[in-house]
Amino acid sequence: MYKSKITGSGFYVPSKVVTNDDLGKLMDTSDEWIFKRTGIKERHYIEHSGIGSSDLAYEASKKALEQADLTAEDIDFIVFATLSPDFSFPGSGVLLQKKLGCRNIGAVDIRTQCTGFIYALSIADNFVRTGQYKNVLVVGGEVHSTGMDFSTKGRDVAVLFGDGAGAVVLSRSEDDHGILSTHLNSQGEYYDKLWVESPASRNIPRIVKKDIDEGRIYPLMDGKVVFKHAVKRMKEVVLEALETNGLSVDDVSLIVPHQANLRINQMVARQLKIPDEKMFNNIEKYGNTTAATIPIALTEALEQNLIHKGDLVVMVSFGSGFTWGSVAIRW
Ligand code: ACO
Repeated sequence: MYKSKITGSGFYVPSKVVTNDDLGKLMDTSDEWIFKRTGIKERHYIEHSGIGSSDLAYEASKKALEQADLTAEDIDFIVFATLSPDFSFPGSGVLLQKKLGCRNIGAVDIRTQCTGFIYALSIADNFVRTGQYKNVLVVGGEVHSTGMDFSTKGRDVAVLFGDGAGAVVLSRSEDDHGILSTHLNSQGEYYDKLWVESPASRNIPRIVKKDIDEGRIYPLMDGKVVFKHAVKRMKEVVLEALETNGLSVDDVSLIVPHQANLRINQMVARQLKIPDEKMFNNIEKYGNTTAATIPIALTEALEQNLIHKGDLVVMVSFGSGFTWGSVAIRW
């Protein structure tokens, strides 16, 4: 068995910045409410129609490839995590394969929402560990801004999300450093606690005017239930990662958690007895970018020189499904 390690990372967010005050002009909300409850100040939205998740991912991937000192030709496989693919089908992975000019390599889309990048990284890790592929491009990309209800009815969800993409190159490790373990979970009984009901291929027809009029085309969330489970599961799955590797909380150099709500991450840190500075947060600038969140956060943590060779980094996420998971890395 080989080991895999991250050899390059990058992220991209569109240039249009939308502040809490901007949202306050569209719906009954305020900077005070949003910041106090979530830690979010602003988020980025695509500048105009016609920009898809694969376009954002393309920009992020170019940076990750450059940092890994590789070209698109060197990539053996693409794993693309998104809940907002450019089209219903085909997936955004194949669009990215074309845009980057990769060989006719395999490309797969992963549909596990906010845990998407953790699942994607785990899948890529297994391909590299078995020796099937040497360099896998792992991407999370989302365009949320075209799919939210910006009226007061949708304010509990619309203020949370932003657009963006992050990418890493996962390569065969030449030494002992790299991914130590990955842990993936789901609990489908909560599928409708955070979901978009329409359009649905189980319905004939898949969408009717009533679905649009009644807002079933927008995400619906039971915020309190999601919050409670997120804290519990993120804590659990960090401990599971540490236990698997015979490590303790004191060994952790940095946790790179999903960014759904600053309060969730603060609560997880408190319960794990990890100081706030070991919990990376950047939700203030981007909101929740779902599958893109962790590679964006990881890239920023690296840019801020918060991760050094030999550090123990744990990535952790929780999202719709419910799904949750973690990745432990010896950097
Ligand atoms: N602005 C102003 N008021 C608002 C807003 C808003 N944007 N949103 C809701 N409110 C109001 C509500 O209508 C309610 O008013 P009422 O008391 O008159 O009925 C009041 O504020 C309180 O609402 P709650 O929903 O009880 O607020 P809560 O404290 O639960 O915070 C929040 C809501 C921030 C969404 C929180 O529940 C949360 O962060 N949940 C977790 C979200 C999450 O983790 N998502 C994760 C994954 S995402 C993925 O997988 C795709």
